[in-house]
Amino acid sequence: MKPPMSSKLLPPLLFLVILALFFNPCASDISNNKLFQCLSQRVLPAAAVPKMVYQPADSAFTTVLNNYVRNRRYNTSATQKPLIIVTPLEESHVSAIVICAKDLGLHIKIRSGGHDYEGISYVSDDPFIILDMFNLRSIDINIKDESAWVQAGATLGELYYRIWEKSKVHSFPAGICPTVGVGGHISGGGYGTLIRKYGLAVDNLLDARVVDASGRILDRKLMGEDFFWAISGGGGASFGVVLAFKVKLVRVPETVTVFQTEKYVDENVNATDMVYKWQLMAPSTDVDLFMRMLIQPSSSRVQNGKITVKATVITLFLGGSDRLISILDKELPELGVMKENCTEMNWMESVLWWSKFDNDTAPEVLLNRIPASVNFLKRKSDYVQKPIPKAELEGLWKKLISLGKSGLVFNPYGGRMSEIPATATPFPHRDGNLYKVQHSITWSEEGSEAEKNYMSLIREVYNYMEPLVSSNPRSAFLNYRDLDIGVTTKGTYAEGQVYGLKYFNGNFDRLVSIKTAVDPTNFFRNEQSIPVKPQ
Ligand SMILES: Cc1cc2nc3c(=O)[nH]c(=O)nc-3n(C[C@H](O)[C@H](O)[C@H](O)COP(=O)(O)OP(=O)(O)OC[C@H]3O[C@@H](n4cnc5c(N)ncnc54)[C@H](O)[C@@H]3O)c2cc1C
Ligand SMILES: *[C@@H]1O[C@H](CO)[C@@H](O)[C@H](O)[C@H]1NC(C)=O
Ligand SMILES: *[C@@H]1O[C@H](CO)[C@@H](O)[C@H](O)[C@H]1NC(C)=O
Ligand SMILES: *[C@@H]1O[C@H](CO)[C@@H](O)[C@H](O)[C@H]1NC(C)=O
Ligand SMILES: *[C@@H]1O[C@H](CO)[C@@H](O)[C@H](O)[C@H]1NC(C)=O
Repeated sequence: MKPPMSSKLLPPLLFLVILALFFNPCASDISNNKLFQCLSQRVLPAAAVPKMVYQPADSAFTTVLNNYVRNRRYNTSATQKPLIIVTPLEESHVSAIVICAKDLGLHIKIRSGGHDYEGISYVSDDPFIILDMFNLRSIDINIKDESAWVQAGATLGELYYRIWEKSKVHSFPAGICPTVGVGGHISGGGYGTLIRKYGLAVDNLLDARVVDASGRILDRKLMGEDFFWAISGGGGASFGVVLAFKVKLVRVPETVTVFQTEKYVDENVNATDMVYKWQLMAPSTDVDLFMRMLIQPSSSRVQNGKITVKATVITLFLGGSDRLISILDKELPELGVMKENCTEMNWMESVLWWSKFDNDTAPEVLLNRIPASVNFLKRKSDYVQKPIPKAELEGLWKKLISLGKSGLVFNPYGGRMSEIPATATPFPHRDGNLYKVQHSITWSEEGSEAEKNYMSLIREVYNYMEPLVSSNPRSAFLNYRDLDIGVTTKGTYAEGQVYGLKYFNGNFDRLVSIKTAVDPTNFFRNEQSIPVKPQ
């Protein structure tokens, strides 16, 4: 059957197509047709409408849907599919889509880069449509005033590349994986290797453009400081559609230094000593130094017939190797890193190194939006506020060894993160947090049995960690979306409070007030959106 809304229709055919919608017995989905009609009345030129809608019967529908799926758990035949995917070509189209969807009572999911760990930008239990921002990805760099406008559908890799084209000593403090989308990442409080020196992406925001629940396009001045505050880390999807952010660029040196090194629990100066000391040092050392720690059960090394635990330190230093070594000799000699273990490079090379590209890869690789393959993933998060004692670390190693698959990533805070007040943005995890933990498990076996098994492993580690991490609430990072910590089905305050306090601590109620003011009918909602105030 020829879909009534093929994306390749020529403009003169449009009128016939609209007519056909009324008579075509195969045009099964009433709401799709009504949406199409509404858009045709509101979008200029109307000929753009068929170019931006994809219906299930269209041959490109599955490709467009899967292009921005970054978790294979949501690429199965059981995954709920949208009624339609709408891919605006211009900012004004987003207004039209919001107005039409609201009139027709259609539930919108907003997707930019699709990296949500629980897929909530493109999956829902209720009937829904996807508003997919991938066409809106222009980037405008202004080195003179050290700023950039970046549209929501751009990726971080594109942003880093465009800055690099203009300047070798500027960047933006955001995430490490280049395919992550700007829309979800920045509005969720994104961080990367520059976090200790410059804070989060949202600590470097100047302006934004959004479409609100009435379809108006607003900049910072028009939306007001409350609305702007809310989308600076409160998650865009509860408040509106982010069209673009204006960001402040930051300075990076011409030469930076990286190294990666591993320690195992069975060594002389063993992983326990080193990790313990890392907890004291990594969040308090020079702000030029960012040392990420990975903790993994390591099947490549066996001790007494059992796998062991490996602690990997991955480092970016904003300076040369001599200064780095003098810091490490003084503050973390347990690591045993020498000058020969370090590599000096320029900023762009370090971006590629952190993304695990070979050292001869050209920077243009950052313009690839679609990764070669996608795995099954589950992620969870925690905040550590007191160093975990050595005995508890040893207990954790035993747990990880007995489960065999689940790992942890420690990201040090401190530096700039401790200077910014907890209320400056919705992201509350500032002073008093030593490091953030990402619980991580990744698999490639298909099927629900495998999924059940892997999910239970990571949850067991999460349960084990409970006494070692923040409590009342047990805090979590919004960008590491985790539906285990609570979901809303009715949009009530009581449901929202369960996850809302974990993600936003004391900032939750301000987010609720702003939500109530800007979207009282809860049009912009998802499994973990900010609820409106109880009546
Ligand atoms: C491989 C990988 C690596 C990652 N690395 C990092 C990292 O280094 N640092 C870090 O902080 N995080 C990291 N993350 C998490 C990532 O920042 C979040 O998943 C982020 O929300 C992704 O943004 P997105 O636009 O790609 O996702 P999407 O799935 O498109 O969106 C995520 C959420 O934001 C909403 N949203 C998206 N676009 C808009 C918009 N234009 N307006 C309003 N709401 C919108 C969605 O509805 C959804 O709720 C990583 C994730 C993955 C999968
Ligand atoms: C590792 O160090 C810890 C703390 O110093 C010690 O208790 C433990 O026995 C050491 N383990 C090994 C295998 O040397
Ligand atoms: C540093 O490099 C030397 C020589 O390659 C190697 O033997 C040693 O293990 C490295 N040290 C660390 C801490 O990675
Ligand atoms: C790049 O990688 C190759 C192969 O691993 C290595 O021989 C070479 O020294 C590296 N170059 C730099 C500048 O690190
Ligand atoms: C989704 O699944 C289909 C069918 O198994 C596969 O061809 C496609 O590559 C998958 N896409 C992603 C993003 O995993």
